[in-house]
Amino acid sequence: MQHLIRVWDGFVRGYHWLLLVLLIALWITGGDLTYIDLHKNLGLVVLALLVSRIMWGFVGSNTARFTQFVRSPAAAWRYLADELKGRAREPLGHNPAGAYMILLLLALVLAQAVSGLFTNDDLFFMGPLAGLVDYDTQRALTRFHRNNFDWILIAVIVHVVAIFIYMFKGKDLLTPMFTGNKKAPSHSTAKGPAQSKPKIVHGGVGVAIFVVNLGWVFWWLG
Ligand code: HEM
Ligand code: HEM
Repeated sequence: MQHLIRVWDGFVRGYHWLLLVLLIALWITGGDLTYIDLHKNLGLVVLALLVSRIMWGFVGSNTARFTQFVRSPAAAWRYLADELKGRAREPLGHNPAGAYMILLLLALVLAQAVSGLFTNDDLFFMGPLAGLVDYDTQRALTRFHRNNFDWILIAVIVHVVAIFIYMFKGKDLLTPMFTGNKKAPSHSTAKGPAQSKPKIVHGGVGVAIFVVNLGWVFWWLG
């Protein structure tokens, strides 16, 4: 028999879909200098969101904690090999291979937001921290800011294709990112013992952390 287990708290779900919306808006506003102030402000929201997610990775729900879902590269390979043979045991939270994709996505988006702070478009916009570095570094970081976004797009495509491959194989990862709940066997099966319920921290705590982070980010860089 299967029953529903809470795997993603409200903060993880909210931050994930907000990040998607913000990245689309940043893509649109980044290409047109008339929207550059809006672009910068949206970028600062992303920065606060990512800092909050990283903090949540230490104090949030079990399934959000880095120490819980990031395993050794060897464990990730083993999982992938088992998955190809159709005998991988799915954890309730992120799987060991997906964990590295998540770290990559977070690192790429963080690098994008931080490099934005040092941009100089040579016309009328300078990022709030551009003054801390010399002109050549400003230009190099601006180039990085343009090129890195292509890597974000590639990583997101891989991420979404992976989710759909799972779906094709009958494993629905998408619905839980909306509802927070996953179907799991309530008793031991041939694939292993019943998994114990993750400890979920109320998403409101994550939202409070986000609001505080928004405050200092805009006070300092806004
Ligand atoms: C801007 C685009 C996106 C970015 C940057 C992104 C990033 C991420 C990150 C960082 C996580 C880990 C969540 C956590 O922090 O614990 C995640 C998980 C997830 N994302 Fe996305 N995502 C994007 C778009 C999408 C889209 C369009 C879909 C829908 C197909 C999607 C479906 C999922 C699902 C289902 C998970 C949970 C995976 C699991 O069960 O381990 N994402 N995403
Ligand atoms: C994660 C957050 C961010 C994303 C996803 C993002 C994305 C982008 C994209 C897609 C472009 C267009 C690149 C091109 O024309 O090929 C762009 C340009 C730009 N962004 Fe961002 N950005 C972010 C944060 C920021 C921040 C925080 C700032 C400033 C404080 C900033 C400043 C700029 C500037 C000045 C440009 C124009 C650069 C130029 O072409 O001269 N961005 N950004």
